[in-house]
Amino acid sequence: MSSEDAMEPMSAQFFTGLGVAITGSGSATPETNLDNAALSQIVETSDEWISTRTGIRQRRLSSAYGSLNEIAAQAAQNALEMAGVSPQEVDLIILATSTPDDLFGTACLVQARLGATKAVAFDLTAACSGFVFGLVTAAQFIRTGVYQTIVLIGADVLSRWVDWGDRRTCVLFGDGAGAVVIQANARDRLLGFELRSDGSQNASLTLAYQGQAHPLLENLAIAQGTFSPIGMNGQEVYRFAARQVPEVIEKALFRANLSVEQIDWLLLHQANQRILDAVAQRLKIPNEKVISNLANYGNTSAASIPLALDEAVRQGKVQANHIIASSGFGAGLSWGSAIFQWGR
Ligand code: UT7
Repeated sequence: MSSEDAMEPMSAQFFTGLGVAITGSGSATPETNLDNAALSQIVETSDEWISTRTGIRQRRLSSAYGSLNEIAAQAAQNALEMAGVSPQEVDLIILATSTPDDLFGTACLVQARLGATKAVAFDLTAACSGFVFGLVTAAQFIRTGVYQTIVLIGADVLSRWVDWGDRRTCVLFGDGAGAVVIQANARDRLLGFELRSDGSQNASLTLAYQGQAHPLLENLAIAQGTFSPIGMNGQEVYRFAARQVPEVIEKALFRANLSVEQIDWLLLHQANQRILDAVAQRLKIPNEKVISNLANYGNTSAASIPLALDEAVRQGKVQANHIIASSGFGAGLSWGSAIFQWGR
């Protein structure tokens, strides 16, 4: 076989020049609601402090018997229904999460719940950037012609890992799931993206494994333990987000050959209303174009962007062809932006 012959199947499989479209969205949140007044009975805080510093008024919490895979599958099911796609048509499921039910991975449990028998499924961990990183990852599989139909879920149950005695962190987070269906499309609707990581700032936001030395033999010790609750330097994370998020959005817009004025919606990771306001102000984007639902859910990590997107779509705010500038940012540190157009 000549080298040209050997190359041919590769090019047929991997370089089809297909575009990417987001054709459906869905979300699911646990029923239990904890508002700021109720939270004030757990730690020394107040509705006034939480709402003025963060914009958060309440959050949903998974019950003691709830699971991540349950809300993740429900969000995915809702997204598939909107897209008019059956679970059996799905080629790939990506579950962006930092709070798996099983450290070996939770995406396969979601696959089984959905009955997506043909799909391969894996977890992706990039904290609050997980949805944007997952969107870009999914797009590569479609653009190379490997898969045609992908379900991307962002889901987190951070209540499992919050220190409920630490008022500096526990007031911020909530549980939830959001999902989108991403399909091969003649027109490419992922217009530009930019992803970043900086591990030198890892200590600013952690959910780290803490092992104790456990001797097995005289000169052999391994570590066994568990994960420590979320640790965060709030002011450092705030400064990082206010500085890096506008910059990464501008870079993604540059790649998309678009100006800020052409954006219909700014869709940021829902961490803090003050961060949303600061980024919008820096980019000179008016408040009416900023999607915000964190008052009701708090920071749901990888779920926050698809959860807010799904609400905005179902409310009729986001419509076909609207241009959305999204940005995720958080632990890693990691951050990124994806500029996409809604619909086929
Ligand atoms: O996905 C990314 C996740 N992380 C983030 O988005 C975090 C980004 N950072 C932030 O959102 C803000 O830094 C916070 C909301 C976390 C904190 O706001 P801040 O304006 O930076 O407050 P601070 O940490 O400077 O604390 C101010 C005061 C302190 O009291 P003293 O030392 O001035 O007497 C805190 O002890 O507020 C106190 N405080 C609280 N008081 C009532 C901190 N947390 C609370 C609380 N209730 N929950």
